[in-house]
Amino acid sequence: MSTKIKYLLSISLFLGLFIVACNPKDDDNDWVYNPTSVTVSLPAFVNTYLGAMPIPSDNPLTEEGIALGRRLFYDKRLSNDNTMSCATCHLQEHAFDDPRRFSEGTNGALGNRNAMSIQNLSWANAMFWDGRRETLEQQAHDPVTNPIEMRNTWTTVESRLRSDANYPQLFYEAFGTADIDSNLVVKAIAQFERTLVSFHSPFDDYYFNGNTNALTEQQIRGKDIYFGKGHCNDCHSDVLLTDNQFRNNGLDNVLTDIGMGKPTQNPDNNGKFKVPTLRNIALTAPYMHDGRFPDLQAVVDFYSHGIQPNSPNIDEHVAPFGNGFAFNPGEKADLIAFLQSFTDTSFINNPNFSNPNP
Ligand code: HEC
Ligand code: HEC
Repeated sequence: MSTKIKYLLSISLFLGLFIVACNPKDDDNDWVYNPTSVTVSLPAFVNTYLGAMPIPSDNPLTEEGIALGRRLFYDKRLSNDNTMSCATCHLQEHAFDDPRRFSEGTNGALGNRNAMSIQNLSWANAMFWDGRRETLEQQAHDPVTNPIEMRNTWTTVESRLRSDANYPQLFYEAFGTADIDSNLVVKAIAQFERTLVSFHSPFDDYYFNGNTNALTEQQIRGKDIYFGKGHCNDCHSDVLLTDNQFRNNGLDNVLTDIGMGKPTQNPDNNGKFKVPTLRNIALTAPYMHDGRFPDLQAVVDFYSHGIQPNSPNIDEHVAPFGNGFAFNPGEKADLIAFLQSFTDTSFINNPNFSNPNP
């Protein structure tokens, strides 16, 4: 071989190595960090009323991040004894809520709050019944170490995921590092949660898309109560069916749970709880922060004649009505029928939201 050819060969070998070294790969693996960005597709009316989905600048949605978050949401290794995932208490068929009054921790301990559904939370500015966390990322830190939920430590979760056969590559592909830590875990879970949007109910079809056949006669009568005599829309309002505020709807004269008063340490907030969305409400029994009402009949009975007007910090939208809106039995039935029109069967059957590793 002539010196010239040897020279050319070594140049190309050098270039080859150079290219390999610059390629975004992790050491000897053929992992690639080149995430595909995702925009969640929303019906036109949602864009009109709410604008684009708010996404934090430090956690953009990507295909890789969402798929990883979905896997983590369903992964029981997040709990101390490998028996419980987020989905144990947030079931897709219940709009990611728990049908039990109080969820059970891995040791069988019961909490004192009813679980909440997970839907359309990109637009929420506070998490939990008392609003003690601001973002989905912050929220997702809590259940893992909660002594009445997953009872784990983040160190244990991190080491389990690092020694898994697949997770290091999946984290690398989503975030450009296989150095798995709790912040990346909660970022991925939050990305998956932001894809959980529900806007395809008969109510949407009727109210926003103008399909007059989407509701029954009875449901249309119930709609008029919802927006009229029942004042429901004063708080469970607009496209999200919540105004995302914290209010006291008058459940108790004597508070056993002060709600938002606790994290804010402000007595003016005692008795205030997050106004929950009524989307998919027929699927998320039992109801209220403590799950006291087993069905919608009990809820409507409460708003009819069970409101406690002397409850501390009672909301101005219910205070003027004494014990309630005094519905007759026909009105109650109509209102319940209308609440059932918030059920979005495409949401609970969406295969993109189900367990990816059954
Ligand atoms: C043991 C049952 C249980 C487990 C496991 C659990 N949750 Fe929850 N979740 C709850 C309960 C109960 C609440 C309401 C607690 C409160 O307000 O004090 C809640 C509230 C939430 C909320 C707030 C929703 C809103 O509208 O403010 C989100 C989001 C959430 N959970 C996501 C998760 C994620 C993500 C995981 C897994 C990392 C998880 N949960 C694991 C029971 C559970
Ligand atoms: C003053 C504002 C306000 C008005 C008006 C109002 N609600 Fe509520 N609603 C709330 C709040 C706040 C909660 C949560 C209370 C709690 O758990 O402490 C709630 C809870 C609920 C729940 C339980 C949701 C769940 O996930 O557990 C249902 C169902 C409901 N309301 C339906 C209605 C209906 C129907 C009307 C009209 C008759 C109505 N609300 C009027 C504020 C309001």
